[in-house]
Amino acid sequence: MSLFDLSEKTIVVTGAASGIGAETAKQLKAVGAKVIGLDRNKPEQHVDHYIEIDLSNPASIANAAAEIPSGIDGLCNIAGLPPTAGALPVMKVNVLGLQMLTMSLIEKMSDGGAIVNIASLAGLGWPDAVDQIKGFQTKATFENLAQVCEELGVDDERSYFFAKEVLIAWTMQNRWTWRERGIRMNCVSPGPVETPILKDFLETLGERAEEDMKVMDRAGLPTDIAPVAVFMCSDASAWIRGANIPCDGGMFAHVMTGMNGL
Ligand code: NAI
Repeated sequence: MSLFDLSEKTIVVTGAASGIGAETAKQLKAVGAKVIGLDRNKPEQHVDHYIEIDLSNPASIANAAAEIPSGIDGLCNIAGLPPTAGALPVMKVNVLGLQMLTMSLIEKMSDGGAIVNIASLAGLGWPDAVDQIKGFQTKATFENLAQVCEELGVDDERSYFFAKEVLIAWTMQNRWTWRERGIRMNCVSPGPVETPILKDFLETLGERAEEDMKVMDRAGLPTDIAPVAVFMCSDASAWIRGANIPCDGGMFAHVMTGMNGL
């Protein structure tokens, strides 16, 4: 059987109702996977089974996790809120809810399972935010989030970047957490992608985003990102662990070479 064949696999996809999540569900099904779609909105297509979830609400996450059967082979954490949603919703959905769902599903994962987190080019500054990230990791819960965000200076403007920085760091920290079971975690970092939330990003990021868009030949499409998520769920990517894979038309390389004077 091909390493790219997913016909024996069941993959949970969050955010399956729109954008990158919907396209990932579609492409997973195209290579034979069974897809369990989780979203606050019901996906119109491409899922075998839909479970409603509100990733900002621990009780809803617990209910959804309880409904998922044992024996899942992958988890694509794709649901996310854009920067304009505000610090608390962004940190809940893009980080705390994602982490709670993931940890709740580890025991239901088959050995060799894959976890794929959709981070962002917006998280590339994580090495400069290590103290803030550690502060968040040691303190933040759903209950004390407002207080911790205030303490750490995570306001509405900073929250989306910070959420993605935390996610990339957490992915790398978990490179070997479930190694004995062959379960691995990676993330994919898209640049700007044409989905319903792109307009929101461009508005929030203002001039910086306009500059970025000028050097890019085009924005990404969900069809550019989904195949990478599918590959990261397949056995073909078995030795990729704790990685952050840019999928951004070259923007990560552009920013890094610029920053380092190359
Ligand atoms: P989208 O808005 O098309 O899809 C997001 C999905 O997440 C929606 O189906 C929405 O219902 C779901 N969602 C939002 N809040 C939820 C909650 N509380 N509970 C359950 N589901 C919830 O957006 P898109 O662009 O497909 O975003 C997917 C991921 O890609 C996000 O994590 C985003 O941060 C990331 N990303 C997007 C980029 C872009 O330019 N579109 C660039 C880089 C990363």
